[in-house]
Amino acid sequence: MNLLAIETSCDETAAAVLAETGDPARPWTIRSSIVASQTTIHREWGGVVPELASRQHVRDICGVVEASLEKAGCASSDIGAVAVTQGPGLVGSLLVGVSYAKAFSWAKGIPVIPVHHLAGHIESLVLAHGELPMPAAVLVVSGGHTSLYFLPEPGTYRLIGRTRDDAAGEAYDKVAKLLGLGYPGGPVIDKLARQGREDRFSFPATRLTHADRNAPKATGADLLPPDVARRIDFSFSGLKTAVLRLVRELNQNSDPDAPIALPPQDIADICASFQKTVVTALLDRLFEAAAWLDARSIGISGGVSANSRLRADAEARGAKAGRPVFVPPISLSTDNAAMIGAAGLRLYRSGVVGSLDFNAEASLALSEHLRPERERGSGPASTQK
Ligand code: KG4
Ligand code: ZN
Repeated sequence: MNLLAIETSCDETAAAVLAETGDPARPWTIRSSIVASQTTIHREWGGVVPELASRQHVRDICGVVEASLEKAGCASSDIGAVAVTQGPGLVGSLLVGVSYAKAFSWAKGIPVIPVHHLAGHIESLVLAHGELPMPAAVLVVSGGHTSLYFLPEPGTYRLIGRTRDDAAGEAYDKVAKLLGLGYPGGPVIDKLARQGREDRFSFPATRLTHADRNAPKATGADLLPPDVARRIDFSFSGLKTAVLRLVRELNQNSDPDAPIALPPQDIADICASFQKTVVTALLDRLFEAAAWLDARSIGISGGVSANSRLRADAEARGAKAGRPVFVPPISLSTDNAAMIGAAGLRLYRSGVVGSLDFNAEASLALSEHLRPERERGSGPASTQK
């Protein structure tokens, strides 16, 4: 079967066509994947402006879907199901994709599958490398999320750690903004860090010791001893503030209203020191959790997994720990629809199909999402084998 996938959760309008292979080890193949990025629109504002994002999705969605069908050599009648990101994300942006997918499903008389954005990021690993050795520990690290999952088997995601405040990608974007490096921050900090001295500045690496009072209901935290479960959570807001303080201290511009002015070497050294702190925080927790859970493989996905230092360090640590590390290629790291198609096909083959009354959800727990709609109490679900 061919499946059309749509992703519009943030500032990328994306569509992809996936085909099933019949091979259980590598169940899906990408026939096309089109991403229309809105970066140039949001760069001017230093971050994503939700209203501008949803308006641009409306402009782009038809052309992007048509391009994905054309590139795949498919007519719309060759598509057997449509998958779409239901959440989490910007609700106005999500609504464009969800409305398009529902209309496509209704017009063609084919099933529509609502997909959790993070399930997509996790399944991007399978799309790129085939089924991972199980159990697996997977870190999803992006502009909106920093979450650690334990996968006892394919398609089962148990949340074991998450950020208590900012996501790692958000910290990259905010630090880049205060250094005057533009949006998005990850790629430019990654590049400048290569010319900087990572031991010049020492930034705080937060280790949490108190329980999460706002923890989501269904998690897999009980898989770990309580003190380890607490330590596994992330925090990046203090790091961002530490960089801000340092930048103010080093600022050569005496007028407080004028833009920050720093010599290029200082900027490169800040980037390198900041990046080392983030990468160490991410990998310490990932490898600690993997050791506790005796994971047979480790995955890292989401936009920040494009980071060159994170990739290199993860591979080196994985080799030392005897746990293979899987990271998607850059095209599948940042937001795309192919990963949503992969998670959609996994759900579809496990019998989950949405009814046409599901809605876009700005915040949606992955554990909630995986239960059929009927159990979630939001209207009837149709299930299909
Ligand atoms: O997964 P993604 O495309 O969108 C979300 O779901 O958030 O991730 C975007 C995030 C941005 O914060 C961006 O700065 C970050 O990924 N990013 C990177 C790199 N490339 C993108 N962060 C660090 N290093 C990179 N090379
Ligand atoms: Zn994402």
